[in-house]
Amino acid sequence: MMNYMDHAATTPVRAEVIEAMIEMMKDQFGNPSSLHRMGVKAERAMETARGQIAEFLNCRAEQVVFTSGGTEGNNLGMRGFLPIEIPVGSNLCIGGVEHSSVLQVAKELERRGVECRLLPVDRHGRILMEEVVKFIDAKTILVSVQHVNNEIGGIQPIEALGKSIRKTAPKAHFHVDGVQAVGKIPVSLQRSDIDSYAFSGHKINATKGIGALYLKNPKVIHPILWGSKQERGLRPGTENVPAIVGLGVAVNRLQNEFDAHQAAFIKNRNAFLQAIEESMDRTMIHTPISLEEAAPHIISLSFEGVKAEIVLHMLEMKEIYVSTGSACSSKARGNRILEQMGIAAKWREGTLRISYGWDASIEEIEELVTALTEAVGEVRELTMR
Ligand SMILES: Cc1ncc(COP(=O)(O)O)c(C=O)c1O
Repeated sequence: MMNYMDHAATTPVRAEVIEAMIEMMKDQFGNPSSLHRMGVKAERAMETARGQIAEFLNCRAEQVVFTSGGTEGNNLGMRGFLPIEIPVGSNLCIGGVEHSSVLQVAKELERRGVECRLLPVDRHGRILMEEVVKFIDAKTILVSVQHVNNEIGGIQPIEALGKSIRKTAPKAHFHVDGVQAVGKIPVSLQRSDIDSYAFSGHKINATKGIGALYLKNPKVIHPILWGSKQERGLRPGTENVPAIVGLGVAVNRLQNEFDAHQAAFIKNRNAFLQAIEESMDRTMIHTPISLEEAAPHIISLSFEGVKAEIVLHMLEMKEIYVSTGSACSSKARGNRILEQMGIAAKWREGTLRISYGWDASIEEIEELVTALTEAVGEVRELTMR
């Protein structure tokens, strides 16, 4: 039986989502912009999904824009609020361990003359709040930070950050990448200091290529794509109605099952951490142990003296799937996240990310730990490291 422990990379699509999407593709395939009944039905289905998302995020439906996923949400959230003429001397601040869909937008803005500042993090990848005042100032036009880190699982102090931004840079736009947070930790956007918040369907059992962006004030944003008037002109192009409906269903299920998912994540997390402590030596856990500081679905850890990629493929032969970092950066050389956290090279090369789903069983966790212990032992013995 397959044992999939890479849910931070992507999740399986749940049956209710598939069912709802099939119905939209087979029977309700109208274009939401059409004036006839087929169009109206599609539009209604889309608005139901928008309402489901607004309810879950605790915001208003008109504050939700559908996107193609986290990458587009981060692009629109970061770029859509910038003035056409960026004032000379402006800077932007992003977290030191952001996903590339935030880092690369910042780099692009840097090429356009905006100074890009990285907020330093501690050894668990969490932004050092006491350092923030040295970076955010009156010339800061944009701050973009993830809610939960995709490789380590650390929760960023976004509430404190929001307050600090309002004090020192009241006009700065505050964007949050919520891709790894939605469904894993509570998210409530009403009355927050966050100006835009992006998330993605394929991390929460909906399909790839769909997501949504929350906008505190939808009137002040401009599009980054131009075309017709869909999504009030903010995201032109015929809407992906089946995927949007599927996203709504996935979010609605998450809302109903949130407490049960938390309990399952925590049970599996505790079992995994305890088993590692009992059965493996020369390991280093990067994820904060306290659940006040970490989401419950990701554990990042290093094994001294092994190349993690070898272990990954040894596990794969047993149909156990884990990751060496984020799926998007796995083909890039080195690991900039662990480097930013100050983790030494001998540990970095032996790092695995385990991310289980809410439906993982204790037996699957036990199978993983047994296979991990064997694989790490074998590699260490072969290489005598
Ligand atoms: C923290 C984070 N942000 C953004 C993304 C990108 O989302 P998407 O794959 O929907 O473009 C990911 C996906 O890996 C992620 O983990």
